[in-house]
Amino acid sequence: MSKINLILGLQWGDEGKGKIVDVLTEQHDTIARFQGGPNAGHTLVFNGQKHVLHTIPSGIFRTHAMNIIGGGVVIDPVILNAELENLNIQEIDYKNSLKIARSAHLILPTHRLLDAASEASKGKAKIGSTLKGIGPTYMDKTGRNGLRVGDLELPDWKEKYRKLTQKHLKMITNYQVGLDFDLEQMETEFFKGLKALKEIPFIDQVQYMQESISEGKKILAEGAQGSLLDINFGTYPFVTSSTTTAAGACIGLGIAPNQIGEVIGIFKAYTTRVGSGPFPTELFDEYGKKMAEIGHEFGATTGRPRRCGWLDLVALKYAVQLNGVTQLAMMKSDVLSGFDQIKVCTSYQYRGESIGHFPFDINEIHLKANYSECKAWQEDLTQMTNADELPKELIKYIEFIENYVGVPVKIVSVGPDRAQTILLN
Ligand code: GDP
Ligand code: IMO
Ligand code: MG
Repeated sequence: MSKINLILGLQWGDEGKGKIVDVLTEQHDTIARFQGGPNAGHTLVFNGQKHVLHTIPSGIFRTHAMNIIGGGVVIDPVILNAELENLNIQEIDYKNSLKIARSAHLILPTHRLLDAASEASKGKAKIGSTLKGIGPTYMDKTGRNGLRVGDLELPDWKEKYRKLTQKHLKMITNYQVGLDFDLEQMETEFFKGLKALKEIPFIDQVQYMQESISEGKKILAEGAQGSLLDINFGTYPFVTSSTTTAAGACIGLGIAPNQIGEVIGIFKAYTTRVGSGPFPTELFDEYGKKMAEIGHEFGATTGRPRRCGWLDLVALKYAVQLNGVTQLAMMKSDVLSGFDQIKVCTSYQYRGESIGHFPFDINEIHLKANYSECKAWQEDLTQMTNADELPKELIKYIEFIENYVGVPVKIVSVGPDRAQTILLN
């Protein structure tokens, strides 16, 4: 029996999961995305080309791998179709290397409208949603009203679709935000997308995964978003609507906790966040600007600028514990090259006390981050390929992180390309 390895983000998303999944696909047979939807944007760079995936697992460009869109994922057929068209342009033969769980829920056009109406109604208190319909689709899932991929094989799915859409339209009217939309146009795109989706083989997830495990297949589960956006354990309500943590792999793929092997936690050498919500180490000064500029910190899905700040070890340790992380991958180390100082947050100042956890009222109270200073490195890392070449200050930075969170860093990323990846012993 083989164990399933997990890759997940430990911060507020965009840590570089896509890149590392692509790198590690070399050692795996199957890549299975377990939750989230097209709110995700996973970037891969190789042979001088950049690819962004939203729904399709990041193993799709490696021809040996089978890619599974798991039952915990919510799929927008319109976006999936656009992704498939891109693969066609690249001449990637996905028809034999992509499967979809019948239990995955569909994002309907009216889910997107509901997302927009809900956000508009919140005014300044908005979540900063990607407006891809994620929240409303998961609400219909847990409300037991959703439309699933497997429903498309049943005769009455169109009736279900109509009923749900009618209900949504009433809800949209109730929001009273004067949303302007052309549903007919949206539906044309949606039905076109469904046609493309139906060409991908569907699977009964639990049976498929369990059989793959029995056959000794090496499986890598790909998470989306980050632990601090988790519906239960993130900075609620400024979170997404799925379980982004390790538990989500069990729910989203139909696997048991004891079938999980390595849990690879991905984090940036600093911190970023898109959308609203607390961010104790956020910077509004030249250092933050420098991170954004050098790191090209703009969202892969919405293009919005990402907020930037120092690495928050309190938050990182929380995520490491929550997920049972066994090894870490530190991304974007190259971005901090040449800084005159680097800080890391080691505790928060909260109600006159120094604390080492996220307090319940983190949204109401502005936490002050307490920092330790680390020596910066000046060398350009982007051409380095070997651990021996890494500057001693960077090694010290890594050791500081490892000591704080209690888990080793095994991968150091020094640029966006798949080749710019250094393995540590
Ligand atoms: P994901 O959502 O976790 O897959 O991450 P995104 O793709 O949204 O954002 C990560 C961004 O950083 C992408 O533009 C990547 O190409 C880029 N990236 C990944 N690793 C590195 C790295 O080590 N250095 C630099 N400079 N960029 C990186
Ligand atoms: P990947 O997989 C970064 C954020 C949004 C918003 C909040 C809720 O690329 O790391 P939603 O659309 O889910 O209702 O938005 O979550 N968010 C992400 N931020 N990376 C992501 O995915 C994200 N997916 C959602 O910006 O603050
Ligand atoms: Mg992303």
